[in-house]
Amino acid sequence: MRIDIITVLPEMIEGFFNCSIMSRAQKKGLAEIYIHNLRDWTFDKYRRVDDYPFGGSAGMVMKIEPIDRCISELREQREYDEVIYTTPDGKMFNQHMANDLSMKQNLIILCGHFKGIDQRIREHLITKEISIGDYVLTGGEIAAAAIADAVVRIIPGVISDEQSALSDSFQDNLLAPPVYTRPAEYKGWKVPDILLSGHEANIRNWELQQSIERTKRLRPDLLDDNID
Ligand code: ADE
Repeated sequence: MRIDIITVLPEMIEGFFNCSIMSRAQKKGLAEIYIHNLRDWTFDKYRRVDDYPFGGSAGMVMKIEPIDRCISELREQREYDEVIYTTPDGKMFNQHMANDLSMKQNLIILCGHFKGIDQRIREHLITKEISIGDYVLTGGEIAAAAIADAVVRIIPGVISDEQSALSDSFQDNLLAPPVYTRPAEYKGWKVPDILLSGHEANIRNWELQQSIERTKRLRPDLLDDNID
């Protein structure tokens, strides 16, 4: 899968994709991540990508031309399944969206900035608008990194123990069960006996019961039928 991220702050996320599992996914050839500096697509001699809003309200708006030129150039080279815009008024990102996006070939993620992008870009170029939560960040870069991370880590082969991605919280609309490691007892704090019993079926059943109990207690909304 290929992800092209368009941003005015490439340095903010370059390091992120050069670390740990994201870096390994790229080295293994399972994901290609390209980060584009939007300022490379402006004709403005000061490389400005924003301008004052029509109507006189406060703040600056991201201009159409550089965004259109960048997206058009990418689209001339290959077909994109989605052109995503990160914005607090987008659809709330969740595991189902990550699963869905992880099956695509090519994605563009445009990071919002300033007061937002010219509405005509949203109407004509963007196919999906995504928020990562009901709070406002200074820009869409962290959202783009979060989306790309959640999508790439579930591509088969990216995480060495595939089972561990499948048993994540949210994969069945359930929170993950608690996990423990050695020592079996620390300061009198004990690991549940069942996990030391060696009885595989009972352990899996215990984990499922824990998942259901935690989900009911902490995130009952996940148990609603409406998973989107
Ligand atoms: N840009 C600023 N805040 C954001 C959010 N919560 N989600 C996605 N993009 C954003």
